[in-house]
Amino acid sequence: MKVLGIETSCDETAVAVLDHGRKLLSNLISSQVHLHRKFGGVVPEVASRAHLETINPLIELATEEAGISLSDVDGVAVTVGPGLVGALLVGVAAAKALALALDVPMIGVNHLEGHIFANVLEHGPIEEPYVAFVVSGGHTMLVYVPEPFVYEVLGQTLDDAAGEAFDKVARFIGLGFPGGPAIDRLARSGDPEAIRFPRAVTERGYDFSLSGLKTAVVRHVRAERASGRDIRPADLAASFQEAVVEVQVKKTIAAALDRGVRKIVLGGGVVANTRLRALMAEQAAKLHLKLLVPSPALCTDNAAMIACAGYFRLARGERTGLEVSADPGLKL
Ligand code: KG4
Ligand code: ZN
Repeated sequence: MKVLGIETSCDETAVAVLDHGRKLLSNLISSQVHLHRKFGGVVPEVASRAHLETINPLIELATEEAGISLSDVDGVAVTVGPGLVGALLVGVAAAKALALALDVPMIGVNHLEGHIFANVLEHGPIEEPYVAFVVSGGHTMLVYVPEPFVYEVLGQTLDDAAGEAFDKVARFIGLGFPGGPAIDRLARSGDPEAIRFPRAVTERGYDFSLSGLKTAVVRHVRAERASGRDIRPADLAASFQEAVVEVQVKKTIAAALDRGVRKIVLGGGVVANTRLRALMAEQAAKLHLKLLVPSPALCTDNAAMIACAGYFRLARGERTGLEVSADPGLKL
């Protein structure tokens, strides 16, 4: 069964062809980063327009690269939310048109479920129960998964998503967009203990908050500059990253122990972060918890993860009607 996956929730137009839920025949991503860079962040109107221009040629290329023709496609999976509404609409419209023209089923996929399924694509089916930590440009979310396709949100961010905070701090110290990879790179040559930034341990157990940390970074930079000292960007990046990651790892491990599960699954763009991967692996190993992490290329937005989640939903007989619309605030 060949599923064509479409992802357009933010600033990547992505199309993938997946055979039998695991075998990736093609996985194409057209990044719009160059279009948004001069604005320092994703501009929704620019994103929608770029998706519109790219989606059809990308579908053609993806089937070509998979060595199939459109008539070989058995199902279409598409991100229906959460994300930017105009961006999502482009993918949803394309998926509907394909499903109708090819007379194959369509399945709408939650983008966050897609991030979790990047692990299924890479490591094979995951036996529940487990705790998933999904962390991206739009979300920071701890989820308990007791059985297939059941998601209980344990906590989430009360303000900025982690990726958003990485991007904002990077912009503030002039590292450009997107900031996550830039901070990650720079932090490798910095001292994570150079500046002791606050660890935002919110009162409610599994929620996250980064506004205090962000303010602390801004204050630190301004104070250093005001007193005529040079800031050391590498130390700042490493110290900021450490403050973010330390809390994330602590809360994720605590959630797993609390729920009595032995398995942790990570997903989302920020999971590409080398320090988060290393510290989570270290702490999970200490407690003999099994840790599943996608390779960095499957952490950031892609259509392969959407095709994978879609395949498993289609395989259990689920279908999404063609009347479905994009839902920018879709809950997990
Ligand atoms: O999942 P994703 O590709 O898109 C959303 O669903 O939001 O995540 C993108 C976010 C961006 O904020 C980007 O800065 C962050 O993931 N990111 C990283 C790294 N690579 C991407 N953050 C920290 N370290 C990285 N290596
Ligand atoms: Zn994402």
